[in-house]
Parts: sequence; structure tokens; C-alpha cells
Amino acid sequence: MSKIQAAITAVGGYVPEKILSNKDLEKMVDTTDEWIMSRTGIKERRILEDGRATSDMAVMAVNELLKKRGIGAEEIELVICCTITGDLIFPATANIVCDKIGAKNAWGFDLAAACSGFLFGLETGSKFIESGMYKKVIVIGGDKMSAILDYTDRNTCIIFGDGAGAVLLEPNNEGIGICDSILRTDGSGREFLHQKAGGSLKPPTIETVTAREHYVYQEGKTVFKFAVTNMAEVSKEIMDRNNLQSEDINYLVAHQANKRIIDATADRMGVGSDKVLMNIQRYGNTTNGTLPLLLWDYEKQLKKGDNLILSTFGGGFTWGAIYIKWAYNS
Ligand code: UT7
Repeated sequence: MSKIQAAITAVGGYVPEKILSNKDLEKMVDTTDEWIMSRTGIKERRILEDGRATSDMAVMAVNELLKKRGIGAEEIELVICCTITGDLIFPATANIVCDKIGAKNAWGFDLAAACSGFLFGLETGSKFIESGMYKKVIVIGGDKMSAILDYTDRNTCIIFGDGAGAVLLEPNNEGIGICDSILRTDGSGREFLHQKAGGSLKPPTIETVTAREHYVYQEGKTVFKFAVTNMAEVSKEIMDRNNLQSEDINYLVAHQANKRIIDATADRMGVGSDKVLMNIQRYGNTTNGTLPLLLWDYEKQLKKGDNLILSTFGGGFTWGAIYIKWAYNS
């Protein structure tokens, strides 16, 4: 019997309507559109309104996906929600999503690996499919980054935005789907990108709030250095391991943290800019949302049998690459 592989068979996505442009940010912090564009490639990002949460964006993405695939929520067996901005500390946002969409036969859990979460979730979900015991697994990647951003800190508030995407994984026996993965973590990198308070190390107090410790803290230059090296290396490594030459790659689907990091990764892989999926200019860095939102935006362009390399780098540090043979024409 041929090996069961997990194939992505549908994609959904959602970004909030409200746009926060670089021009808007110029009025909030000491920055310029020119600085942000030249250093990051970001022009604008989306912001979810108060009172709505990560699960609301995830629900929109999943409902779109179910509609496209023509299946009901009760057919879903497992939901993995990759996020660092869950609705609540507990229970898991996956549970909330299952309740809101009516996935009565599913169980689920959240997966936290910062910007690499969706990639790690894809690998996790694929193993349930490959086991032969699961036929329909949903992997969500989404974050309401605006909930943990300090809009007086120009180092971080210009980078991130809100959004969510989701994919459906189903079994495939034709050699199509998730073919290989290389995933890495290095906890010693945690000091350079984290949220200082709110966890068990430093529970919330008046002092932590006053000290603005519930926001993203990042030493950008250091993270940039590690990101640019590791994302490029792991992307090349997965190509070599699968005997893929530059011309064999149809698309690079890279985490949208900084256009300069994405360009360096493409250079290392030897792929031209025409093969690099990019939407950082419109959404900024949506953390867990970047990869599924790229697949969502470019879905129509992807053809059955296309070779995709997905790669990420994020807080933790976490990074990795996944090689996918795309499963369908839409
Ligand atoms: O997704 C998770 C992983 N995260 C990443 O991959 C992010 C990696 N890091 C980066 O993308 C970049 O480091 C940033 C975009 C965050 C910053 O760009 P940079 O080229 O590394 O700038 P920098 O931090 O070295 O700062 C250069 C200068 C500094 O001024 P001085 O000290 O040279 O006078 C900053 O104070 O730019 C200043 N600066 C700004 N100026 C205008 C920092 N932020 C801003 C700003 N507007 N928003």
C-alpha cells in the first residue's frame, strides 16, 4: 500500500477591515513611511476591533474553508489552533473555535511556537493524517497582535498586524502533500523576543502593567541576525535533502517578518522574486497568520504538483522549513 501523506485540500483566511497605515503610525510614534518601507517592506497592517478576539478571525477563516471544500463542521475530527494571542489564557482557543463553528465531533488544542507555530502545527496535524486514524484535520494560524503591542514603542508597533488563516489536511496516496520537514528550537534565544509579564514567571500586577511589561519586547537587530541566517539555511537544507534544484521550486512561502529576511532566504535558495509569495506590504507580520494568509492570497495561482517550500523564523527561537507538493487547482 502506498504511504499516506497529509495534503492541504482547502484554505481560508480573514483579515480585519480596519487598516493602520505607515502614515497613521507617523502620527503615533517618531517614525516615517520611508523608514518602515525601506527597513521592513511593510506599508500597512490590519487591526481587529476591540471586543473581538483571535477566535473570531479563526472562525471566519475556517467557515470559508469549509464552504470551499463543501463539507460540514461536524466532519472535522481535530482542530489545532496555532497562536500566541489566544482569547483567554485558558481554555484553548481551539475549543472556542470548535464551539463557535459547531465542530461537535472534533477535539482540539492550541500550539504556541511564536511565528513558527503554524509550521509546527502543520507538521503535527500531518502526523495524525499519516497515522491513518484521522481524515480531516484543521490547522489554524492566527494572532491579534494588536492586543499585545505597545503603540508608543516604535521598535515593535510598526511591524505587526492582525489576521488568521486556516488549512484543511486530508489523506493523499498519490505522493502529494507534506513531503518533508525540518523543525528547530533554541530556547536560549528567548531573551531577545518575548512578553515579559503575564505568565507564571511574572503574573500580572499593577507594577507589571505600569512598567508596560504585557507587550511584545524585541531586540530587533539580534533577532534579524539569527532570522536571516537560520531561515535561509533551513530552506536550503530541505532543498538539498530532497534533491530539489532552484528550478524545481515553484514557490517560496516564507514568514512575513521583514522583506529583507525573505529576500536573503530566496537568494540562498537561488529562486527569483517571481517565485516568492509576498503580502507583508499589506498585512505586516501577523505572527501565526503569515503562512496560511499567503496560501489564501495566492491560492488561485497554485497548481497541483507545484513544489512549495514553507519556512519560518520566530521567537523562542523557533524556525524550520516544510516541503509541500501542492494538491489541487482552484
Ligand atoms: O517574526 C518574528 C521574528 N522577528 C523578526 O524577524 C524581526 C527581525 N528584526 C527586524 O526586522 C529589524 O531588526 C527591525 C525592522 C525590527 C528593525 O530594523 P533595523 O534595521 O534592525 O533597525 P535597528 O533596530 O538597528 O535601528 C536602526 C535605527 C536606530 O536608530 P539609531 O540608534 O541608529 O539612531 C533606531 O532607534 O533606527 C531607529 N528606529 C526607527 N526609526 C524610525 C527603530 N525603529 C524605528 C522606527 N522608525 N519605527
